[in-house]
Amino acid sequence: MSDGERQKREAIVEHCKALNRTGLNQGTSGNISIRHEEGMLISPTSRPYDSLMPEDVVFVDKAGNPTGHFAPSSEWRFHRDILLHRDEVNAVVHAHPTYCTTLAIMGKSIPPIHYMLAVFGGSTIRCAPYEIYGSPELSELAVKALEDRKACLLAHHGMIAVGSSIEQAFWLAGELEALAKQYHGCLQLGEPPLLSEQQIQDVIAKISEYGLTSVKSPENKGLDA
Ligand code: 13P
Repeated sequence: MSDGERQKREAIVEHCKALNRTGLNQGTSGNISIRHEEGMLISPTSRPYDSLMPEDVVFVDKAGNPTGHFAPSSEWRFHRDILLHRDEVNAVVHAHPTYCTTLAIMGKSIPPIHYMLAVFGGSTIRCAPYEIYGSPELSELAVKALEDRKACLLAHHGMIAVGSSIEQAFWLAGELEALAKQYHGCLQLGEPPLLSEQQIQDVIAKISEYGLTSVKSPENKGLDA
């Protein structure tokens, strides 16, 4: 195994554990992939993260054929399809964080309530309609909801964040949950006022890379740039 592959396997394990440690996920929900050669490395299905080892990570090729001693995540299909559709994406994080999932259950996209929405590439975080987990239909809807964006919600399910690196995708997952919590809080008080499309575009022009280059680990969330 090359050093590069070993590092990717270790990064998947480290970030799976961090998903639970940071409260972004619970139990064995959620999964993480990193682009590798002509396919991806992905967390195995239904394995407790606490005991996950780098060798448990599964390689899945472009056609969906797995290599490994466990089966790949049941969501390998949307990870594979996102990586196939998005050349600039190298890592995908899927989880069921409480506030993202609360909004997703209500079928709500996140509107431009805060300028940090701009780091996701546009003025809304879309919520993909419900389809059963692991299905080609869910994958198609997820890829569509992610168009020109670095994250989306999945109705009655959770969220997906993508990045040029696993560190970036993980950081964005945390930012998304913060926005979801803020939106949930706003909704307790009424319908919040929104930023305009132009205001979001101005932020995109100003800070499109804000914090994204300094992200190094789950503990360094990139806000110290
Ligand atoms: P896996 O354990 O198969 O990765 O599935 C967890 C999950 O979150 C499904 O959406």
